[in-house]
Amino acid sequence: MKRVDDFRLRFGKKELVPIMVGGMGVDISTAELALEAARLGGIGHISDAMVNDVSDRRFDTSFVKDKTRLYKHNILNADKSGVKFDLDILAEATRRHVGATMEAKKGDGLIFVNCMEKLTMNGPRETLQVRMASALDAGIDGITLSAGLHLGSFGLIADHPRFRDARLGIIVSSVRALQLFLRKNARLNRLPDFVVVEGPLAGGHLGFGMDWAQYDLASIIAEVIAYVKNEQLGIPVIAAGGIFTGSDAVSFLASGAAAVQVATRFTVADECGLPTAVKQDYFRASEDDIVVNTISPTGYPMRMLKSSPAIGDGIRPNCESYGYLLDGNGNCAYITAYNRELALHPDGKNISVQDKTCLCTQMRNFKLWTCGHMTYRLKDTSRRNAEGSYQCLSAEHIFRDYQFSVDQQIALPAE
Ligand SMILES: Cc1cc2nc3c(=O)[nH]c(=O)nc-3n(C[C@H](O)[C@H](O)[C@H](O)COP(=O)(O)O)c2cc1C
Repeated sequence: MKRVDDFRLRFGKKELVPIMVGGMGVDISTAELALEAARLGGIGHISDAMVNDVSDRRFDTSFVKDKTRLYKHNILNADKSGVKFDLDILAEATRRHVGATMEAKKGDGLIFVNCMEKLTMNGPRETLQVRMASALDAGIDGITLSAGLHLGSFGLIADHPRFRDARLGIIVSSVRALQLFLRKNARLNRLPDFVVVEGPLAGGHLGFGMDWAQYDLASIIAEVIAYVKNEQLGIPVIAAGGIFTGSDAVSFLASGAAAVQVATRFTVADECGLPTAVKQDYFRASEDDIVVNTISPTGYPMRMLKSSPAIGDGIRPNCESYGYLLDGNGNCAYITAYNRELALHPDGKNISVQDKTCLCTQMRNFKLWTCGHMTYRLKDTSRRNAEGSYQCLSAEHIFRDYQFSVDQQIALPAE
């Protein structure tokens, strides 16, 4: 019977354990988590979501406070078009986050950064360019482009000296999205080094509509693998979304996937950035506690625990401090929804916004508990302490369980 360890992900001459821990913003997939995946011979992701804030927390910078001070005069103004990111500061925050992670790297694995296109930051092109270029400057092994079609993203860094040596890949949820990406980038003569195919059971934002349940990863990835083979592209195809056991992973690897990207199992790792109490909510969740809804202002459906404090919370938009979801004109669907409620309750008290959430603030404060569909099975991966809480697991334990388990077994932590 095969185990994940019987397979290898090949990038040129480099061979890796075919397990990639997916990016989880905001700082849920921490540097510590990514470093463990790399140390164990796989691939770990950090995320550059809200990187100015991540830098403040990790390196004692004051980028968020400084931005708030600069735009304080605008806080009560509905028009956020003038609230811009300073590109030099964005570059510095990215270089700090990526640089410190890469300096700490040990082992044979790789560390990638997850870059979401939907973080439009009131200047989609220039901010994405700075994010990617600074990550490359700081020595990141690779970039995974996500949450968007990224039709122009390669072009933004085509002049970077590392454009052809860093591993660059994209997450898609259909063969059509991949075809579109390849067509739009054909002139650059640079194929992606990997393609992650993310199915509808993943955590975070979904690349599907609210009819997500009609799709399944196995069918989509089979189409992508067939396309890549027919076109003789030679791009490794990586399966993601709902892969909960080593045996689940083996079934994809045996059908031609080059690796798996997993995340939900690691949300309860010691190294994961979620607060300890929130990890317990993930452990306790039943299938009924998990919902896919449309409260994310990005326009993509998102999966989360129904008990997330963010749902219905009507806080004032915080774009002067954050503003990561402002489109190129300073708009965000949460601002519109909030202002509608404010007009109904002009005293500004007891405002509840049900249809959208202030994603920046809520993710930053770990109040929006996004999770994969399989979260309800996390309780089967651990032991209960005497007082009823679940034992958190080391990332190494989870990684090795994926790597070596057979027969749908899940190794429990030592008692
Ligand atoms: C808590 C959480 C946060 C996530 N955040 C992001 C993100 O910021 N960007 C992204 O591309 N994918 C994100 N994802 C998706 C994962 O990277 C991964 O592809 C997917 O969840 C894999 O499926 P699994 O969780 O069932 O293993 C997130 C997933 C989880 C569970």
